[in-house]
This record gives sequence, C-alpha cells and structure tokens, in this order.
Amino acid sequence: MPSGVLTASYIAASILFILSLGGLSHQEKARRGNVYGIVGMAIAIVATIASDQVSNLTLLIIMMLIGGSIGAVVAARVQMTQMPQLVAMLHSFVGLAAVLVGFANYVDPSVHFEGVEETIHNTEIYLGVLIGAVTFTGSVIAFGKLQGVIMSQPLILPARHWINLAGGIACIWLGGWFLDAGSVGEGLVPLILMTIIAFLFGVHMVMAIGGADMPVVISMLNSYSGWAAAATGFMLSNDLLIVTGALVGSSGAILSYIMCRAMNRHFVSVIMGGFGTTGGSVTGEEAGEVQSSSAEEVAEMLSGAKEVIIVPGYGMAVAQAQHTISDVTQKLRDVGVNVRFGIHPVAGRMPGHMNVLLAEARVPYDIVLEMDEINEDFENTDVVLVIGANDIVNPSAQENPDSPIAGMPVLEVWKANTVVVSKRSMATGYAGVDNPLFYRENTRMFFGDAKDSYEAVLQALS
Ligand code: TAP
Repeated sequence: MPSGVLTASYIAASILFILSLGGLSHQEKARRGNVYGIVGMAIAIVATIASDQVSNLTLLIIMMLIGGSIGAVVAARVQMTQMPQLVAMLHSFVGLAAVLVGFANYVDPSVHFEGVEETIHNTEIYLGVLIGAVTFTGSVIAFGKLQGVIMSQPLILPARHWINLAGGIACIWLGGWFLDAGSVGEGLVPLILMTIIAFLFGVHMVMAIGGADMPVVISMLNSYSGWAAAATGFMLSNDLLIVTGALVGSSGAILSYIMCRAMNRHFVSVIMGGFGTTGGSVTGEEAGEVQSSSAEEVAEMLSGAKEVIIVPGYGMAVAQAQHTISDVTQKLRDVGVNVRFGIHPVAGRMPGHMNVLLAEARVPYDIVLEMDEINEDFENTDVVLVIGANDIVNPSAQENPDSPIAGMPVLEVWKANTVVVSKRSMATGYAGVDNPLFYRENTRMFFGDAKDSYEAVLQALS
C-alpha cells in the first residue's frame, strides 16, 4: 500500500476514534459512537495489514485469528457485572505487549540510530517498558481482586512509601545506565532490572488499594495502558498508535479525575492506597430494629404516590432486575405517577453501569437523571425505591466524619417521605461500611432478590 494511502487511512481512523469518544459521552449517541469506533478500528487493522511494515502476513493472520476468536468468545460470555475484570485483563495485555515490543525493538539488529536519535529512541523504549510493566502486573492484581481470587482488603507494607521511593530512584538511576550503555548486551542489564522493579511496583501499588477505590484504579490503569501504547507508537514510529494511545491515556486520566471527585477522594491519596482498612460501624443510636415491608405494601405505597424516584445500584445489576423495574416504571407512569431515576456516578461496578442497564431495558433517557440534577428533589418525593444500592445512599458519608466514606457525595434518599430499600439481607455494600439508612424511621426494608421482589410488586400493582 502506498504510504500516502496508509497515512490517509490512519488519519481517518484517528478522526473516527475521536468521534467515537464524543458519541460515547451521551446515551442517545452511544450506539453511533460505538459504530464509529468499530469502523475506525477496522480501517486501522486493514491499513496496517496492507502496509509494507508487515513482513510475514501468514503469521499475522494466524495470530489475529487466534486472538480474535478468544476475544469473541470471552466478550460473548462475560456478564455485565464481570466487565471490570475483563477490562483489567485487557489492560494487562496492553502492558505486556508494550514490554515485549520494547525488548524486541531494543534487540532488533535492523533498528539502528545514531547520536541524539539513538538517545530519543532508547528513552522511548525505556519509558514504554516501564509504563507497560507497571500496567501489566497492576492490572493482573486488579483482575484478581475484582474476581475475588485476591483479598480485596488493602495490603499495607510497613515503610511502603519508602519502598516506592527507593524503586523510583532505582528506575531513574538504571535509566541513566541504560542510556549510557555502549552495547545492546550491556543495556539489557539495566532494562531487565528496571522491568523487574516495575513489575514489583505494579503489584505493590494495587495490593495497597482496596474497597471502594478499585474503580479509580481500573480507570487509572486504563490511562497507563494508553500511555504505554503511545510509547510503543513512538518506538515503532506508528502515528496511529501514538494518537490512539494518547486518546486512551488522556480519557482514562480524565475519567479517574471525575470518579475521584464523585467519591470525594484525592487522586494521590487513592494511589497511595489504604482505603478500606477500617470497616466503620453503626452507632448505637442508629442500630436497632428495622421495619420490613411486603410486595403488597410496597405496591400500595406506590399506588398512593405522585412523585417516585428510583435509585438503582449494583444489586439491580446482579439480580438483572432492570426489565422488571422498567415494567413497574411504565405501569406507574401510565397512571400519572411522575417516576424518575437518580444515578450516582459510581453506582454499580463501573462508570455508566446503570445507564447501560436502563437503556437496555428501554427506560426513556429523559427520566434518567444524574445525582446533581436530582439530589434536591428528594425532599419533595413521596417514595424512593432503592434497588440493590447501598454505599451511594449511605447518610454516614455526610453525617459521620469518622466513616471511611465520609465526604463522598451521596444521593440524599432519606429526605423523602418513605424509602423502600430492596436487598437480600443486612449485608454491607462494596466499601464494607454499615448503613444507618436501614434503621431510619421512614425506611422500609424490602428483603429478597430485587427481580423477584419487583415481579411480585408488579403483580400486586396489576
Ligand atoms: P453496593 O454498595 O456494592 O451495594 C450493593 C447492594 O446490592 C449490596 O448491599 C447487596 O446487599 C445488594 N444486592 C446484591 N445482590 C442483590 C440482589 N440479587 N438483589 C437485591 N439486592 C442485591 O453498590 P452501590 O450502592 O451501587 O455502590 C457502588 C459501590 O461500588 C461504591 O462503593 C463504589 O465506590 C463501588 N464501585 C463503583 C464502581 C463504579 S465506577 N461504578 C466500580 C467499583 C466499585 P445484599 O447482599 O444484602 O443483597
């Protein structure tokens, strides 16, 4: 393929990726955004295959078939609730690829630079391998924690900040040695040593992070994987990889920032880890009897209501209750009840989790509101239905300065006339923090699987 056509294809793919990201930021345009991304990636792959850079087409196609088939099977099987694990696993591949490409590029005898160009190229290799190695092991540990293979509590080593600092200084020193190395043989020693330190740093960093900070870690690793890809792009002089890596890197960084704000956490304190070591507890005053309700009672409350807000959480995803909730919503709207949804930015287990489920269940977009748009309306609401949500409606975030989630913005559901909390037991949510909401005067616990519970409500409403 002539290089002009290749460049034009790469520019077209880059534009499509940018349009794709733009589309994904609005629910109405998300589907179109996805299509842009798919078309952009198809153009990128075909153009790369047809370029002169490919010396062994058969091997490339065999590898693509193997990788593509595994990817297709995994993507088809994965549950929505397991998506964060899948994303973590995919980030680890990007990190590992950056490490392998860095090493291969360094020892490749056909790649030869002189003087400043050599220093620049070797710096790209060093940074690419460094970021890739941290991303790889960090993502593997994040996968293990999300999958429950590794304990989700943070593992805090004594003097861990000093360990990190020593690792950072060692990587800088090894970088100097690497750039000054007179031969590939000599340069490999600091490169390998740095890779080992970066692998250990990735493990150490994510092991120290626990509980409710995991979503930020995933999005941070997403950002790292982007920068690793961009560094690989510089190594390989591939413009599209640089652009795509930078898009992933910066969007991951912005998302991490947005999530930190939603949890009232500072990004640096998230990276420093340690959240979730204390469990928090219900004070004597708040702990006590809970009042539970039956499906018929909930149906009765709903029939008498004018204003209803539904707050979905992770439990709705587990129970796959979104279709039943959508039917209940429709039924109430048919009889003139104003039903709206309040979505917390970290409800569920990944950004946008609830929006995706509600869109899948065909809940109209205009009644699905963000936390900031709806938080002031709770006091004028007759009934709030909390469906499998816990941390995001926990009043102790505002009322108990000692709570591990103190300061996290929450949906102020307790201000409504009545709050119906649907969950299976009194168990805590993701952050492992008790919730005084359950003991409030105006709260009714509606125990059971969310889907079964609301099917019964639906029946009672009919
Ligand atoms: P959680 O606080 O995790 O609470 C979910 C609740 O759902 C649990 O208390 C559980 O109680 C209940 N539940 C589970 N299965 C159920 C079922 N089949 N039917 C009914 N209820 C069920 O969820 P949340 O309120 O959505 O808060 C999200 C939390 O996850 C936050 O701490 C957030 O920081 C964290 N997080 C968020 C993300 C992102 S980016 N969204 C990613 C990772 C973690 P029972 O066991 O008693 O049923």
